[in-house]
Amino acid sequence: MKIAILPGDGIGPEIVAQAGRVLDKLKTEGLPVETTTVPLGGAAYDQYGDPYPAVTRDAVRAVDAILLGAVGGPQYDALPREKRPERGLLAIRKDLGLFGNLRPAILYPELAGASTLKPEVVSGLDIMIVRELTGDIYFGQPRGIHVNAEGEREGFNTMRYSESEIRRIAKVAFDIAMKRNKKLCSVDKANVLECTEFWKEIVTDVAKQYPEVALSHMYVDNAAMQLVRNPKQFDVIVTGNIFGDILSDEASMLSGSIGMLPSASLDAHNKGLYEPCHGSAPDIAGKNLANPLATILSLAMMMRYTFAREDLAKRIEGAVQTVLRKGYRTADIYEQGTEKVSCSVMGDAVVAVL
Ligand code: IPM
Ligand code: MG
Repeated sequence: MKIAILPGDGIGPEIVAQAGRVLDKLKTEGLPVETTTVPLGGAAYDQYGDPYPAVTRDAVRAVDAILLGAVGGPQYDALPREKRPERGLLAIRKDLGLFGNLRPAILYPELAGASTLKPEVVSGLDIMIVRELTGDIYFGQPRGIHVNAEGEREGFNTMRYSESEIRRIAKVAFDIAMKRNKKLCSVDKANVLECTEFWKEIVTDVAKQYPEVALSHMYVDNAAMQLVRNPKQFDVIVTGNIFGDILSDEASMLSGSIGMLPSASLDAHNKGLYEPCHGSAPDIAGKNLANPLATILSLAMMMRYTFAREDLAKRIEGAVQTVLRKGYRTADIYEQGTEKVSCSVMGDAVVAVL
C-alpha cells in the first residue's frame, strides 16, 4: 500500500497526524504500508514557490492513494491566482484524473443533537453525494477578468461538460446506487442552463443500463431546500462540480459538523485522494482543537475504495463510532454532558479503541 501523505495548511498537519497514528497502528499489525510525505498548497508555495510542485507531482503519481489534510490560508489570498493553495488542490485533482468525488453524509446517532436540524429530521441519515470533480465551471475555458466590448471590466467563467465526462460520473453514481438502496437523484438546473440540460439527457441515457435503479431529477435550488426539509428522501445524489461543492457543504451540516465528513476522489482505476470535506480552518490552526475524525474516516474510505479492505474500513469507522459513544467530543460537536477533548486526545481515543 503506497500512500502519499499531504498535510497541507492550517489544521491540516494536526488532523493528518492523527490519521497517521491510525495508519501506524495498522502497520504494527502487519499492514504493508509505505508512506511518503510531501507538501501541497500554501506549504508547497512556501517551500517551492508553487502550490503543486514537481516533487509533489512525482510523488503522488507514483502511489496508490493520497491522504490530504486541507489547503489554504489568509496569508495566501493576495497571491496571483495560479500560486494560491486552492490551485494546488485543483491541479492535483486534474493531474491525476480524480473525477469521481464521493462525499457521504452520515449521521452517527450519537451526534443527533449536534446537528442544527431537529433530531427526527436527521436521525438515521445516510446519503452519498457523488460530485463530478474535474470538469464544469471549475475548469471550463474561456475564463478570466477582462475589459469587454463596452469598455467595462467583467469577470467570466464557462460551464461545460462533454458527453464522456457525464457518462463516466453517471456510471460511478449508478454503480454506487446499485450497492445501496438503488435510488439515484441527479441534480441539475436544466430549466435555465443548457449545460445541465445536456447533463440530464446523458444521465437519463446511462440509466437504461441500470433498470433496477430508480432515477429521479431535481433542480439544484429545490435540492438545496429538500436537503434541509426532508434529507432522508435521498439515497445517492449525482451532480456536477459546482453544485456538488455547494450541496456537500450543506449536507455536512446534517451530520452534525463538517468536521465529521470524509471524502474520496477517485480516478477510473480506484486510485484515490482522500481528504476531509472541511477546509484548513486557519482560525484554530496550531491550537490542537480541530476535529480529526473526518480525516480518520477518509482513511477508512481509502481502505474501502483503493485497497478493497472493507474489513479495515469498517474497523476504523467502528472505532470512531465507539469513541463517540464513549462521549468524546471535539469543540465543533460538543454538547453538554459530553467530554470536550483536543484533536490529539481524540486521536488517542480512536487508536486505543482500535
Ligand atoms: C472542496 C473545496 C474546494 C473546492 C476548494 C478548496 C478549491 O471547497 O473540496 O469542496 O471548491 O472543490
Ligand atoms: Mg467545497
